[in-house]
Amino acid sequence: MERFIVNGGKPIEGEINICGAKNSAVAILPATILAKGTCTIENVPDIADVRLLLHILQSCGASVDWHDDGSVIIDTSNAVSCEPPAEDARKLRAAYYFLGVMLARFGTARIALPGGCDLGPRPIDQHLKAFSAMGCDWKVEHGTIEVKCRYQRLHGAHIFFDTVSVGATINAILAASMAEGKTVLENVAREPHIVDVANFINSMGGDVRGAGTDVIKIRGVDFFRPSEYSVVPDQIEAGTYMAAAVATKGDITILNIIPKHLEVIEDKLIRVGAEIDEWDDSLRITRRGPLYSTNLNTKPYPGFPTDMQPQLAVLLSMANGTSIVNEGIWESRFKYADELRRMGAKIEADGKQAVIEGVRKLMPADMRAPDLRAGAALVIAALAAEGTSRISDVKYIDRGYEKIVEKLTAVGADIRREILG
Ligand code: EPZ
Repeated sequence: MERFIVNGGKPIEGEINICGAKNSAVAILPATILAKGTCTIENVPDIADVRLLLHILQSCGASVDWHDDGSVIIDTSNAVSCEPPAEDARKLRAAYYFLGVMLARFGTARIALPGGCDLGPRPIDQHLKAFSAMGCDWKVEHGTIEVKCRYQRLHGAHIFFDTVSVGATINAILAASMAEGKTVLENVAREPHIVDVANFINSMGGDVRGAGTDVIKIRGVDFFRPSEYSVVPDQIEAGTYMAAAVATKGDITILNIIPKHLEVIEDKLIRVGAEIDEWDDSLRITRRGPLYSTNLNTKPYPGFPTDMQPQLAVLLSMANGTSIVNEGIWESRFKYADELRRMGAKIEADGKQAVIEGVRKLMPADMRAPDLRAGAALVIAALAAEGTSRISDVKYIDRGYEKIVEKLTAVGADIRREILG
C-alpha cells in the first residue's frame, strides 16, 4: 500500500511536460499485433496501465523493449492468438482491445470480461454489436468472453452504434481494419484518441477515413507493415495540471500539448477564473482573482470530458456560489464527494448530478482515492488546502499519471509518496 503526503496551501509555479495520451496508448499498443514485425511507438506514458498492456503483449509472444526516451519497440513476428492472462484483463478495461486485434488478425479471440475503474455498469454490448455485424458469434461463460468469426475473415458491415462509445468505436475500427470489404461506422466517438488510433493504423498501410467525425469508413486490408508512430499528448493529464494551477493560484506553463484538444477544458477553466496564454504546443495558466461557480455538463467529445469532471468539481467546491454538475457519461462518478466532504466541501451527489455550494477554503484531511481521476482530484484539493493531507490507494492514480509526485515537486508542491508496509 502507498499513500501521498501533501502539505498544501501554496501556489505551484514552473513548467510541466505532458506525456503521451493514456487512452491512445492503451489502444495503439495492442494494435501493433495487426502487423508482423517491429513497430516503434514513441511518447508512450510510463504508467501502470501501459505496463500491464505490454505484459499482455509479451504473453501473446511479442517482444517488448522500452527505451528511456519513452519509446517502446514491439516485435510481433512471433505473436500468436492468445487469451490475455485473466488477472491482467480484469484490472484493465482497455484489455478488450485485444478482442478487435485478435479477430482482425486470427479470426478468433478470448478474454476475461474487462475490469477498470468502478464508474458504474460498464457493458460491452456495442462492441459485440459491431463484431456480430462483421460475421462473428460470441458467448460468455465463466467470466470469459469468446468471439469467433463464422467465415475465413471478418466481413465489412454498416454499423450504427446505439450509444456513443470510445471503446466500441476503437474496437470496431481494429476489427474492421482487416475485414473483407468496406465498413461504415455511425454515431461514433470523436475523441482525439480515436483519431490517433486511426492515424496509427493508416501509418501501417490501413485505410481508415473520417475518424474525429460522426461517420468513419474503413476498407479492410490483407496485411499491415510495421511502422513508427508517436502518441498524441494527453489532454486529460494536461487538464489535470491546469486545474491544479488554478486551485493553488499558481503560475504553470504546460509543455507538449495540442491546443485544439484542450479548447473545451480551457473554456471552462477561464469561466471559473483562470487566465490562459496559448502558443503552438504550450500554454501558460494562472489565477489571480476569485473562483467563480458555474454549471458543468459532461458529454462525448467535443463536449466537456467526463475524465475532467472530478478535477473541475474541486475548483467549484472553493468557488463563490453554487454549481450544478451533470455527469452525462457514467452512472457513478461522484465517489470523490465523500472524500471532499472530509475537507469541508459542501457537495451533495445523487446518481448523475451533484450540487456544489462553494466554501471559502478546504481543510486538510485523510482521504482515499476511489478511482483514477477522482484520485487526481483529491491531489488537487490537498494542494489547495493549507496543512497536511494524506491520500491512500494511490495505485489508482499511478494507473494514469506518469511521475505525478516528481512533476508536482518540480513546480514547488510539497508532496511525497510513502510506502506503508
Ligand atoms: C473510455 O472508456 C476511457 N477509457 C474512459 O477514461 C472515459 O471515461 C470514457 O472512454 C468516456 O470518454 C479508455 O479509453 C481506456 P465508453 P470506455 O465506451 O471506452 C456506455 C479514464 O479515466 N457503453 O465511451 O469504457 C458506457 O456504460 C477512463 O481515463 C455501453 O452502454 O467508455 C458509458 O455509459 C475512465 N455499451 C458510455 O457508453 C458499450 O458497449 C461511454 O462509455 C460501451 C459503452
